[in-house]
Formats: sequence, structure tokens, C-alpha cells
Amino acid sequence: METRTALVTGAAQGLGQEFAVALAGRGYRVAGLDLEPQPETAAKVADYLELVGDVADPGTVQEGIERIADRFGGLHVVVNNAGVYPAKPFEETTVEDWRRVMRVNLEAPFLVTRAALPYLKAAGWGRVVNIASAAVLTAPPDMVPYVASKMGLIGFTRSLAAALAPYAVTVNAIAPSMVRTATAERTVGADGGFEAVCAGQLVDRTQEPADLVSTLLYVVDEGSGFLTGQTLNVSGGSAYL
Ligand SMILES: NC(=O)c1ccc[n+]([C@@H]2O[C@H](COP(=O)([O-])OP(=O)(O)OC[C@H]3O[C@@H](n4cnc5c(N)ncnc54)[C@H](O)[C@@H]3O)[C@@H](O)[C@H]2O)c1
Repeated sequence: METRTALVTGAAQGLGQEFAVALAGRGYRVAGLDLEPQPETAAKVADYLELVGDVADPGTVQEGIERIADRFGGLHVVVNNAGVYPAKPFEETTVEDWRRVMRVNLEAPFLVTRAALPYLKAAGWGRVVNIASAAVLTAPPDMVPYVASKMGLIGFTRSLAAALAPYAVTVNAIAPSMVRTATAERTVGADGGFEAVCAGQLVDRTQEPADLVSTLLYVVDEGSGFLTGQTLNVSGGSAYL
């Protein structure tokens, strides 16, 4: 099988870094697009293509995808992972807060997938993976824009799966419960905090980024062509989709 190429958005840290390293470990050539430089990820991934810019900016996304194609000759897997999850009381949420969450979490996956599509079609095979959240079901009160954006992402996943099925491109979402990343640890009040989330799970420990790797690799696997339009709920049994 030819060496395939993957783009992971938000790859500087957290889940995105974990996914980039895991895909590289499976032999993928990996590019990452993040607002921040990605030295830690680059140190862990051979031949890593670092793209720095805003995933919600159409020009940046288009240019980034073209650089991937120039460097690696194609694109096969897109992991729409970049996301923001500020916790704020609904009554204090401004229109700017709302739009930022929607742009990064929902509009960016549209922009990235749209820009990637000609390359996935040319390859005759593709996998789009959207990182949603089990918070769509636990629905914490201080994350209204976030929950709305991730529910939107699940709808995007379902409909896009139908749109891209003729090209042998699958589209699926992964919905983690709260995962121990530096940002989640800083986001006081997110989903009630680690202890509250843990107490609501059947699995009695906090989820780590590594806990999501097997699901990602399953979704992108060559043998997973019949899995599409789905949201895989990897939340330790805390919420059921
Ligand atoms: N950590 C959790 O508890 C948790 C739970 C469920 C779902 N998720 C989802 O998983 C994804 C990753 O979460 P994480 O905890 O690893 O986050 P993180 O903050 O550790 O990493 C996200 C990365 O995305 C980048 N990013 C943010 N906005 C961007 C933009 N506009 N353009 C380019 N890059 C941008 C950030 O710079 C950062 O490096 C998010 O979509 C999040 O909603 C996280």
C-alpha cells in the first residue's frame, strides 16, 4: 500500500499531538495545522510538516492543504481536532464568544474538509474524522456554545458522510468524555471538572489522550470502509449516543 498522508488540526498539544504521533507510528506522513508552532510534535514525528495558522481562515486552510500536497504528493486522512471549549455562564456569553466557538469548532471542519476534498477524491479513498464531545449529552450549563458547536459537528458528520460516500471517503466523529490535557486542566468548570466527570463514568478514572488512539486508528483503518456517518462515544460509559 502506498504511504498515506494525514492532516491533524490542533496538533501542537493535547489530543492533536497524540493523534499525530499515533498516525506517524502507523506509517502515515503527517502534517499539523495549529495557531501555535508545534516543536513538541515535530520532535516526535519523523518528516513532520508544521503549518502555523488559523484553521478558521479560508485562505490559510487552502494554502496549508496545497503545501501538504506539494510536500507529500497527496492527502488521505483529515482529523478535524482543533477546538476551543471556554467555560462561561450563558448570561455572560457575548456574540464574539459564540462566534469564535462556532468558527473554530464547526466552520473550520467545513473549510478544511472542503479544501481537502479534491485530494481525497484524486486518491479514490479517504477518511475524515471529526473530534466531537460527549458533552453534547452531559450538556454542562456553562458550555452552551461549545455543546451547540459539537452537536452541529455531529450533524455535519452525518450529512457529509452521505455527500462523500460516492468517493469512498468515510466521515465519522469521535466523542470523548473529559480528557486530561493541559487546556482541560486549566478550564475550571468545564463539564463540572475531572472529579465530577469521573463520578459519572462507569470507568473509574480520568480519560487520557492515549485512550482515544485505538478508536482513531480503527476509524481510519483500511478495513473500516463500512463505518461512516457515525459518532463513536468514547466516554467511559458516562453518556450514551
Ligand atoms: N480535553 C477534553 O477534555 C476534551 C473532551 C472532549 C472533546 N475534546 C475536543 O478535543 C479537541 C482537542 O482538545 P484538547 O483538550 O486536546 O485541546 P488543546 O487546547 O490541548 O489543543 C487544541 C489545539 O488546537 C489549537 N487551536 C485552537 N484554535 C485554533 C485555531 N483557530 N486554528 C488552529 N489551531 C487552533 C490550539 O492552539 C491547540 O494547540 C477539541 O476539539 C476539543 O473540543 C476535548
